[in-house]
Amino acid sequence: RLGKSLVVAIDGPSGSGKSSVSREAARRLHAAYLDTGAMYRAVTLHCLSTGIDLKDAAAVEHAARAIELYISTSPDRELVTLAGVDVTTAIREPRVSEAVSAVATTLGARAELIRRQRALIAGAGHRIVAEGRDITTVVAPDAEVRILLTASESARLRRRGDQLGGTQSSSQLQQQVLERDAKDSTVVNFQQAADGVVTVDSSELDFEQTVEAVLDVVHTVAH
Ligand code: DC
Repeated sequence: RLGKSLVVAIDGPSGSGKSSVSREAARRLHAAYLDTGAMYRAVTLHCLSTGIDLKDAAAVEHAARAIELYISTSPDRELVTLAGVDVTTAIREPRVSEAVSAVATTLGARAELIRRQRALIAGAGHRIVAEGRDITTVVAPDAEVRILLTASESARLRRRGDQLGGTQSSSQLQQQVLERDAKDSTVVNFQQAADGVVTVDSSELDFEQTVEAVLDVVHTVAH
């Protein structure tokens, strides 16, 4: 039997299916859901739209501290706002994806977002599935359940290509998926499972099988 209060931390590289799998796992667990990548994207969008130089670490850190950022933690309601403005779709634009590693590698901005993420997890009050790159290791190392969701390079490239509607060449995809992970890996290790973290490899699994594999881990580890 799962407790009323439960933190499930899920990390993994892009294209592992992490976000959609985590959201669905949260629904089935009657849990809240936190997409921490969306928070890095929101800071990036704010910097791009207000002309903050992404190479200026102090300015990026200040932006992370100053923004009025809201993120819904309902798995059924995807909503991110900046100063009350709905940016849910804008944070997924390619210009944001291309620039977001600059924010993710600014340590002062990370520290601020980690602080906000911990507060959101603590404030959830009941069950929550939190997903990102450093949830199992930094944001919530004490989570009852910690999972690294991996997939082979070819599976990740194929999925991201499908997500984008098959409009990208394979070299564009490689650039987007692999180079971004390489940049992000300089500050967080999400390629190997830390001690006590259970690896779920989704390379050979479809969406439903991956959700079930994650829920199996949750039920095995949390009791
Ligand atoms: O998962 P995503 O593509 O939305 O993540 C956006 C960026 O934020 C990505 O470059 C990695 C970074 N990120 C991070 O460094 N730490 C997290 N906990 C979540 C995302």
